[in-house]
Amino acid sequence: MAGKLKAGVLGATGSVGQRFILLLQGNPLFDLVALGASSRSAGKAYAKVTSWKQGSHIPTSVADIVVTECVPEAFKGCDVVFSGLDASVAGEIEEQFVNAGLNIISNAKNFRQHSHVPLCVPTANPEHLDALEFRDKSRGIHVCISNCSTAGLVVALKALTEKFGPISHVVLTTLQAISGAGFSPGVGGMDILDNIVPYIGGEEDKLEIEPRKILGSFSTSSKEFQLIPEQDMKISATTTRVPVIDGHTASVSIKFANTKPSLAEVQQCLTDYSSQCETLHCPSAPEKPLVYLEQPDRPQPRLDRDIGNGFTVSVGRLREDSVLDYKFVCLSHNTVLGAAGSGILIAELLHAKKLI
Ligand SMILES: NC(=O)c1ccc[n+]([C@@H]2O[C@H](COP(=O)([O-])OP(=O)(O)OC[C@H]3O[C@@H](n4cnc5c(N)ncnc54)[C@H](OP(=O)(O)O)[C@@H]3O)[C@@H](O)[C@H]2O)c1
Repeated sequence: MAGKLKAGVLGATGSVGQRFILLLQGNPLFDLVALGASSRSAGKAYAKVTSWKQGSHIPTSVADIVVTECVPEAFKGCDVVFSGLDASVAGEIEEQFVNAGLNIISNAKNFRQHSHVPLCVPTANPEHLDALEFRDKSRGIHVCISNCSTAGLVVALKALTEKFGPISHVVLTTLQAISGAGFSPGVGGMDILDNIVPYIGGEEDKLEIEPRKILGSFSTSSKEFQLIPEQDMKISATTTRVPVIDGHTASVSIKFANTKPSLAEVQQCLTDYSSQCETLHCPSAPEKPLVYLEQPDRPQPRLDRDIGNGFTVSVGRLREDSVLDYKFVCLSHNTVLGAAGSGILIAELLHAKKLI
């Protein structure tokens, strides 16, 4: 369509790739023109090689697109390429794309801790994208989306730190949806039905480090992102998998470093929070990045994950914590805000900031 930016998706057949495709439908800025996956899928029409697991049909404009291998030449002319690649291959492929001058927004973990690569949750740290002004302009833009369980947490933490200053301690337990494990191999029915699995490989490490980069700063002298030192924000995470399709819930306790605002002030802060996504009029921006739900039994994944089309984080059950300062329950949509949706909102921010 004339005037739109051209977009491609890598890992288009997977769980995150399918969400990218779904969320790009009707987007006023981006036109989806290229799809990439493994050599198992390349050369065939998308509908033929994809085990589509979304609630609506494969969009007709996408069904006949021939899937290509994930090589830069096949994506030449794309203004932005979203990556939902498996981490085992994302490192090498994304590097090739960026070296070829293509702009990559990635869901994979490979570059999240790279000191020159922004790790962005668009409704939490959109200002980190401004650091791209200092990038090596002979290469494409490379931005990483956070781990899915980190995304909801950091929006709530950002609201609180912006208003009340640093948080020194965070203790949390997550209850994570099975879609977060992808399709291949994914979580087996026999493992998760009638069950809770109290272990997700590598997930606790990500939750304990990613918020320190997302809430950290960019040094214009060293041109590097700087993490909040571990001793200044201690995070202790336990991650579990539960029989929920979409929506990661977390039970979170926090302690502020320098102050203890009242419970009413904390609740008001969570209600009032806004981000650049709304002020820059990004098309996918939710009306509110964060909502506080007053009902005593909310948030719940089935009822609340789609608030703001999955871009809004819902928080509830705010109360005093007898060990730290306060505790609350936080819910976010893991394949929207926690994955593909963030990628699209980041691309919209890059466009609003005239970076693409
Ligand atoms: N699921 C979530 O909620 C979530 C959230 C945040 C981040 N992530 C991250 O996002 C990435 C994708 O996750 P997912 O859940 O969507 O995984 P997935 O369902 O297993 O999909 C993986 C995709 O990678 C492609 N692929 C595999 N090997 C390849 C190769 N050698 N060359 C090119 N493409 C290859 C697959 O294509 P074929 O179909 O052709 O094999 C498929 O399109 C992962 O890095 C994951 O950690 C996932």
